[in-house]
Amino acid sequence: MKSFNIAAYISGSGSNLKCVIENSLKGVISSKVWLVIADNDAPGLEYPSSLGISTAVVSRKSLSRNEFLDLQFTLLKKHNIDLIILAGYLKKLPEEIIQLYKGRILNIHPALLPKFGGKGMHGINVHRAVIEAGEEFSGPTVHFVDEVYDNGELLLQRKIKVTENETPESLQKRVLDIEHKIYTEAIKILEEREQ
Ligand code: GRF
Repeated sequence: MKSFNIAAYISGSGSNLKCVIENSLKGVISSKVWLVIADNDAPGLEYPSSLGISTAVVSRKSLSRNEFLDLQFTLLKKHNIDLIILAGYLKKLPEEIIQLYKGRILNIHPALLPKFGGKGMHGINVHRAVIEAGEEFSGPTVHFVDEVYDNGELLLQRKIKVTENETPESLQKRVLDIEHKIYTEAIKILEEREQ
């Protein structure tokens, strides 16, 4: 069974990341999160940092493009990272990183890709669009990341039925509950593939 050294990228509350870390601590997956990178002072940094996991805010704002890239490469190398998981990261990963980690970057999206992906499709907007389109099903997707937003090969999807009185908020909550399970499952699939 392959055990990955994971770096997670986040922008927000980091609830998906928290579940992956908890499952790793419980031994559900053998991979470990060693590094968390955020593009802002995200609340989701608190949990990993409380466990002594390395965290860093790497923002394009205060750095030149080269400094921005160098800092990330240095951190990824320092922790021997061989799997990157995007967990609510709202920025686009630099192409240089995408190329170096081809096939080793995952993202989780709260809808059934290839539908309801792409620019602007994040947070509650996704669930609003699903309901407005009258979709019968929704659910999260874990996919590989390539140079185009929400475009890479799908790894795992779980479908749930959109109920009659569904609101964007209720759908968001139900989908998030499943996200909290399938990100770990997706990592497990990769571990088993490469054992
Ligand atoms: C999730 O809905 C995920 O699908 C999307 O961003 C959200 C992140 O939530 N990419 P959290 O920060 O993990 O709570």
